Amino acid sequence: MTADLKHLLIVDDDAAIRGFFQEIFPKDHYRVDCASNGEEAARRIARKSYDVVVTDLCMPKMDGIGLIQEIQRIDSTVTVVAITGFGTIKDAVSLMKTGAFDVLTKPFSLDEIRVTIDKAIRHHDLAKENRELGRKLETSEKLAAIGQLAAGVAHEINNPLDGIMRFVNLTLERVEDDEARGNLADAQAGLTRIGGIVKDLLSFARCIGADAEPESLEGVVGDAARPFESAMRDKSVSLETRIAGGDAAVPGAVLHVVSNLVKNALDALESGGHIAVDATVDHAHATIEVTDDGPGIPAEAIEHIFEPFYTTKRLGHGTGLGLSLCQQIVEKQGGTIDVQSDESGTRFTVRVPLADVPAAAAV
Ligand SMILES: Nc1ncnc2c1ncn2[C@@H]1O[C@H](COP(=O)(O)OP(=O)(O)OP(=O)(O)O)[C@@H](O)[C@H]1O
Ligand SMILES: [Mg+2]
Repeated sequence: MTADLKHLLIVDDDAAIRGFFQEIFPKDHYRVDCASNGEEAARRIARKSYDVVVTDLCMPKMDGIGLIQEIQRIDSTVTVVAITGFGTIKDAVSLMKTGAFDVLTKPFSLDEIRVTIDKAIRHHDLAKENRELGRKLETSEKLAAIGQLAAGVAHEINNPLDGIMRFVNLTLERVEDDEARGNLADAQAGLTRIGGIVKDLLSFARCIGADAEPESLEGVVGDAARPFESAMRDKSVSLETRIAGGDAAVPGAVLHVVSNLVKNALDALESGGHIAVDATVDHAHATIEVTDDGPGIPAEAIEHIFEPFYTTKRLGHGTGLGLSLCQQIVEKQGGTIDVQSDESGTRFTVRVPLADVPAAAAV
């Protein structure tokens, strides 16, 4: 497949050597480009990404050492194999110090070339994986720090918020002037929204509810959409629930997860539609699917939806914590949550060990 093609750049002023390298690598696995000097190679590397560059040392314009230094500057992820005609250990060491991964000393056999290039490609792949892991680690460390900070702020806001809410409610009971009552009602709605966000932030940071008592699967599926019944009616959204598998029990926190998924589905259905909640049980797991026939999630968004604070909703309509909290809860139970989506709708699939089966036995 094209995606797995390994990209090689052969740099040599000798056309015969360039032709030779182009011949020996099968076209279904390698794409081999050539350059006749260091300058031309550097231009190519700046435009295109290569896995491995094989370079001669003595060339006009820019020599091999100059090219290796230039590669370090342009794209240090490219793995370089240098070809030397007068190989001494001293040359090889100084090449490696400059940044070459390996050195091929002329004359070399076909096998030597293949083994060296294979090693260089593996090195390049591993280095790429390493960088990716490093980036992920950095992101998750940042997220943990954001979570802690958010929880701290939310905690500090919670107490005064509670007081303000109580004063507004008390005043609302006593005030008779219509305009003042209207203003207080607006303030009350705003405070309720702030309260919701604070609660989400605290739940996110502490994964609140993940240890809730087991619930029957039937109860979870039946109750998940209850808070949204009137909103569903208002938006002409129909709901269907199906359970196959008797009276199994699941961790209580799954209710929060399914409820979040139903809420997201409802939010996605701007002008009517259908939501289905299907639950099935195999011997040790429950699988719950929440499907909607909404517009779907664009491919570029789908990789971000489980990240905390990722939301496409208007300001004040979503904190972007719903799905990341769902994922935290499900993973804490030893389960999985997956999504499939296209322009005909979205399906979230939650799979969790049954509550009365220990997680280890359920694997
Ligand atoms: N069923 C769905 N259909 C289309 N998009 C969805 C669906 N479920 C989630 N999304 C997308 O994923 C994003 C993240 O969802 P998530 O539940 O984490 O946050 P939110 O719903 O935006 O805010 P919150 O849940 O905190 O109120 C949503 O903003 C939306 O873009
Ligand atoms: Mg949500």
